[in-house]
Amino acid sequence: MTTYESIAILTGAGLSAESGLSTFRDKGGIWSKYRIEDVATPEAFARDPRTVLDFYNMRRRRVLDTRPNAGHEALARLEAGFPGTVTTITQNVDPLHERAGTRNLIHMHGEILKALCMHCGTRRRWEVDITVDVTCGACGRTGGLRPDVVWFGEMPYEMDRISEVLEICDLFLSIGTSGNVYPAAGFAARALAAGAHTVELNLEPSKQNDLFAEAVHGKASEVVPDYVDRLLGG
Ligand code: OAD
Repeated sequence: MTTYESIAILTGAGLSAESGLSTFRDKGGIWSKYRIEDVATPEAFARDPRTVLDFYNMRRRRVLDTRPNAGHEALARLEAGFPGTVTTITQNVDPLHERAGTRNLIHMHGEILKALCMHCGTRRRWEVDITVDVTCGACGRTGGLRPDVVWFGEMPYEMDRISEVLEICDLFLSIGTSGNVYPAAGFAARALAAGAHTVELNLEPSKQNDLFAEAVHGKASEVVPDYVDRLLGG
């Protein structure tokens, strides 16, 4: 296999599916049960904070005891064993990459195990339900606590750092994402334009299918370890 120096990895909900977490757009996925505009926008939170908080409280409880699968573990192994740079950019708000041991990680859509105070901007680890009457431990104000996740209409986190990573990467892996949500859906095109070899590892061809020089279709727990073995020369 060609030698690479800088690998950028974009992951999505398909990577965590085999850990028992629902994807969004597959049959029976989260967006078949909830409407985005009811639970995942700043306007929804302003209108009906209880419904929005309940949606994330339910999702937070699910991730508390969830374990990474062989896909996450393989990506952590790649980061540890690859002689160049590996940067993992995840759209997932779950903590499974870090539980598997990935360190150079960007949570571009935030983290469900953190809370953000809208009054003072303080972020802190948060493993219990958030309710409308919680007081912020930093500023003492009530009613401003929200999950530290990015909602539709908000800017994803660390976009400047992501741009730098996409600019210099020579291998771009897209794993378990349908390619529906921008700006993440635009990363493959940017990496391709910057000269990277682009690869899709997904259950099925995504919407970005034509942007990948190589595609491997199958379960993340199988295709990701195989691909990582090839990269590490195992
Ligand atoms: P989607 O649910 O849109 O897509 C999941 C992809 O994973 C699909 O292409 C599936 O075919 C694939 N898939 C399912 N099971 C798999 C498996 N076991 N192995 C490999 N692939 C599998 O999820 P995302 O693309 O991550 O954003 O969604 C992107 C964003 O939309 C999310 O971060 C979230 C959501 O709305 C916000 O809430 C802001």
